[in-house]
Amino acid sequence: MKKSILDLNRMVADREKITYLTAYDYLTAKYQERAGVDMILVGDSMGMVTLGYDSTYPVTMDDMIRASRAVRRGAPNTFIIGDMPYMSYQVSDEQAVENAGRFIKEAGCDAVQLEGCTPAIIRRVQAIADAGILVSGHLGLLPQFAAQLGGFKAQGRSAVTAMNLLDQARCIEEAGACMILLEGVPAIVGKEITERAGVPILGIGAGSHTHGQLLIYADMVGMYDNFTPKFVRKYADIGAELLRGFEAYCEDVRSGGFPDDTVDSYVISDEEAQKFEDMLRHR
Ligand code: KIV
Repeated sequence: MKKSILDLNRMVADREKITYLTAYDYLTAKYQERAGVDMILVGDSMGMVTLGYDSTYPVTMDDMIRASRAVRRGAPNTFIIGDMPYMSYQVSDEQAVENAGRFIKEAGCDAVQLEGCTPAIIRRVQAIADAGILVSGHLGLLPQFAAQLGGFKAQGRSAVTAMNLLDQARCIEEAGACMILLEGVPAIVGKEITERAGVPILGIGAGSHTHGQLLIYADMVGMYDNFTPKFVRKYADIGAELLRGFEAYCEDVRSGGFPDDTVDSYVISDEEAQKFEDMLRHR
């Protein structure tokens, strides 16, 4: 059965932890659904993880829609959130609603997510929610605000900034967000926000008290090694395994060990082979 926001709210009420991972392609999403992951974020982190950029800024709506469609094909029953990329919602409420609608209409996402809590972002959350689209807030460490925040740094590490985050979470919830993702904040701040919230609070690097946990899949399976945040736990070493496989393949091709025509090639019956040889002789 396809997961809905009601299932996620029920999990919070029953104190069941929500599992949440990013995915950007069909195959990864398929394995995640098979593993029982509750939610998938098609994050604009795809800019760094799959497109090789050094930030999320260059990612376009078309990049996100193509990836979200593939993820939906791989995970038809999982709750999928489309992450609104840089400049897809900053210009106006109309632009935000139109692009949020594309995630739902063209890609089959269940909800969208947008970063920040400026007065304009609060209006965007309200406009998207008013349009009947489920919207998740994203607070704390905000990759699309890296310039203002001085880079990819944990947030809420002083009493004043921690209090600001509590206020932001309240504002985003009041604006109509159906959930909030908290990124890169101390565990104590994650705990206080979670205890006060009336919507699910998901955390990535926000401690153990949030209603659910998100990780970037390529970090937790050991594929993305350009940079690994402190909060990432490695559950597999797929990068090393890929390297081992690619190196073994190169070695086999170069040495003539692959393909072995007795096992890795198509065969022809003895009778057809004989006819083929006769034809070649008479050519
Ligand atoms: O794009 C993304 O994957 C995200 C997470 C880092 C929270 O927004």
